[in-house]
Amino acid sequence: MSTEVNILTGVRPTGNLTIANYLGAVKPLLELQEKGEKPFLFVADLHAITDYEPHEVKKYIKELVADYLALGINPEKTTIYVQSAIKAEVMTLSIYLARLTTVAELLRVPTIKDKIKKGQKPESANALLFFYPVLMASDILIQKSKKIPVGEDQVAHLEVAKMLAERFNKKYGNFFTLPKVHQVKSLRILSLKGDSKMSKSLPEGAIFLTDTPAEAEKKLNKAQTAMDKQMTPSLESLVLIAKGLNSTEAEQKQIDEIIVQHKSGQQVMGQFKKLVIAIVKRFLQDFQAKRAEIVKNKKNIDSILENGAKVAIENARATLFEVEKHLYR
Ligand code: TRP
Repeated sequence: MSTEVNILTGVRPTGNLTIANYLGAVKPLLELQEKGEKPFLFVADLHAITDYEPHEVKKYIKELVADYLALGINPEKTTIYVQSAIKAEVMTLSIYLARLTTVAELLRVPTIKDKIKKGQKPESANALLFFYPVLMASDILIQKSKKIPVGEDQVAHLEVAKMLAERFNKKYGNFFTLPKVHQVKSLRILSLKGDSKMSKSLPEGAIFLTDTPAEAEKKLNKAQTAMDKQMTPSLESLVLIAKGLNSTEAEQKQIDEIIVQHKSGQQVMGQFKKLVIAIVKRFLQDFQAKRAEIVKNKKNIDSILENGAKVAIENARATLFEVEKHLYR
């Protein structure tokens, strides 16, 4: 019998993580893990080949797993697997789901519409772009997942997953749990340049978990803070960074005090930056030391993924078996 998974989320292996990824996505997952929610976390390597070459994607899979482990994901509490380890099941279910939607509907998915607006022509886009939400629905439904922690940009995809589950249930009998977005409070961490969200694609304004402490310091030294008394979005982002990256209570208090002083017109931004830099550097050092330990033993990562895949595939097969009983009854 297939079982419902309480929490499931996927992450595409397309590059190194930034501290904004950690604060916005990994940390909320760690909280769920520590609450005993037994989340499923998978590396969405099939989604990644929508716009990356497969051999590039492959390189990043274990890198990403090492990052997550070093950040505190614990394989005894979280099931970790690679999407392609259950590809036969996921792809088969996606075929059954794809026939419950139309091409016109897929063209209307906001993320896809956005790409088209930005110049991507439907005639030249590869077909995986349109299949993306169907595949994502399959990831979710194959584990009968209830809650999906994702960022704002993925909410439209979850709507598709929910719609496909509803259509299946209506046509073939109640079977799928309807997945819900698990709202993670969205943190708006700006690029250090201040103009947009911190993102891998703007490396100058982003701090990567792989940056050396010296590189991070250099970037932070150039970062925008704020002029006279104002609480700008850039300053707020730096506060979120400093508070979120394992700062001590004493440091957090100090941050609050500095901000009060700043708002009253004192020149404290230099002092503030020093504190932020110290916190970020310490976080990166800790992370990198843990990560180095983890990658020393590559076999360990392999066995974690094998164990996760076993759990994931057993449930995926059971779900697919039951789905086929409904379809071919
Ligand atoms: N599309 C998601 C992203 O780019 C990754 C993803 C793939 C995912 N399948 C999923 C997330 C299923 C949650 C559930 O971030």
